[in-house]
Amino acid sequence: LLSVRFRRTRRDGEPPLINGWIPFVGKALEFGKNAHRFLAVHKEKHGDVFTVLIAGKYMTFIMNPLLYPYVIKHKKQLDFHEFSDQVAPLTFGYPPVGSGKFPGMSEHIQRSFHLLQGDNLNNLTESLMGNLMFVFRQDYLTGESEWRTESVYQLCNSIMFEATFLTLFGKPAHSSRHSGMVTLREDFVKFDTMFPLLIARIPISLLGGTKATRDKLINYFHPQRMSGWSNTSGFIKERAAVLEQYDSLGDVDKAAHHFAILWASVGNTVPATFWAMYYLLTHPEALAVVREEIHGVLLVSGIETHHNRDLTFTREQLDSLLNLESSINESLRLSSASMNIRMAQEDFSLRLEGERSIGVRKGDLISLYPQSMHMDPGIYENPESYKFDRYIENGKEKTDFYKDGQKLKNYRMSFGSGSTKCPGRYFAVNEIKQFLSLLLLYFDMDVLEGQKPCTLDPSRAGLGILLPTSDVQIRYRLRRS
Ligand code: HEM
Repeated sequence: LLSVRFRRTRRDGEPPLINGWIPFVGKALEFGKNAHRFLAVHKEKHGDVFTVLIAGKYMTFIMNPLLYPYVIKHKKQLDFHEFSDQVAPLTFGYPPVGSGKFPGMSEHIQRSFHLLQGDNLNNLTESLMGNLMFVFRQDYLTGESEWRTESVYQLCNSIMFEATFLTLFGKPAHSSRHSGMVTLREDFVKFDTMFPLLIARIPISLLGGTKATRDKLINYFHPQRMSGWSNTSGFIKERAAVLEQYDSLGDVDKAAHHFAILWASVGNTVPATFWAMYYLLTHPEALAVVREEIHGVLLVSGIETHHNRDLTFTREQLDSLLNLESSINESLRLSSASMNIRMAQEDFSLRLEGERSIGVRKGDLISLYPQSMHMDPGIYENPESYKFDRYIENGKEKTDFYKDGQKLKNYRMSFGSGSTKCPGRYFAVNEIKQFLSLLLLYFDMDVLEGQKPCTLDPSRAGLGILLPTSDVQIRYRLRRS
């Protein structure tokens, strides 16, 4: 009875409405189990635009990528930050930025994002290279050249987590490494496992020890502790200065903001690095081309690759690694499942192509689900298979992809879309390039025989790069140069 009483009914001009049988919950369980399949089935039944009740929210899915630009350009009526400002504070534990208590903070934060891009990327790239080599030398480059074994996820996680941390946040006063890095990483993984539940607004008090773990992680960034760190990136220094301007923000709130940036900077980058490395290792022809390309760039620059020598890659050199970049983009296409969500600021009619428009209600969420586009055989031939050079044509980056004969404006959306596109995307791709370059220059590697192929774990669907359901073992040894 309740479900009939409170159920929303479709108005004229609105997309087909799928309420499900359970009040409030709606289709949340089916969606959560396998979002990609759920959306494909409903697209088949209801067409390319439909509204679904998911955990109390009405979400309108735009399934045709040719329609994405119509959503992306409505920046005012369809806002990203209102939704993220409802969810991120609950997840990371800081007070909502747009609550009126912190005038101008959101704009200040947005302005700081340029410190991750353009010329600022040069310093970040150089600093990361030093930190990557440092972590590799400490933990993996022992100088012995016999075969050793390691798990790929473990390797990516331990190196990328620490090197990214050192690059963004800097190093402690009297040491090159932060004490407790292993515990920090383990706590981060515990928190990250609960991340989908926190984003679904399950109160943290219901999630066992998650609150205590999050408090520990936040405390790592206490302003007093951070004030002793050196070599901190311009980006983090600027954020700290912005946070400092607000007296109503306590020290723990400031620390929680920094913790959120730690999550943004490694939460997706580590699994993305895993998939980039995994696909190369399981496709020897791709590995050979990419390795040769990296050697070629260094050879032209007259750089020696002995593991005791420091290596530097300029941004131009990294940009010239076309095959490596295409292979990374291909693994991002296969592993990313980020949902782009915008919240309607008013009741309005959203113009789609030609004469077509749909009615949208204030507070409704409009969602783009790029995984459906990434796996569309009408856009990508054999979308399930890894083709390392899919994004190269005539020796240049390939940027023309078509749907129903029309060129797509958005064909790869692992980093979101429009004005809220991930500000760390160039840094992230450079990081993965640098990590893989060092790995391929220093080591011979192959996957141990008899292991199951890695598959995607759908439990983080909608939230970014999917994790693998299992890890994979490799053997590696120092290359003789
Ligand atoms: C936002 C993906 C790495 C910082 C986002 C969004 C996505 C994303 C999908 C939301 C955009 C939207 O909905 O329109 C990724 C992926 C990464 C990655 C796949 C790695 C492979 C990074 C790194 C940093 C970073 C390394 C920082 C150093 C951020 C920040 C935001 C964001 C600060 C929020 C932007 C805002 O509030 O407007 N990222 N990201 N990301 N990302 Fe990334």
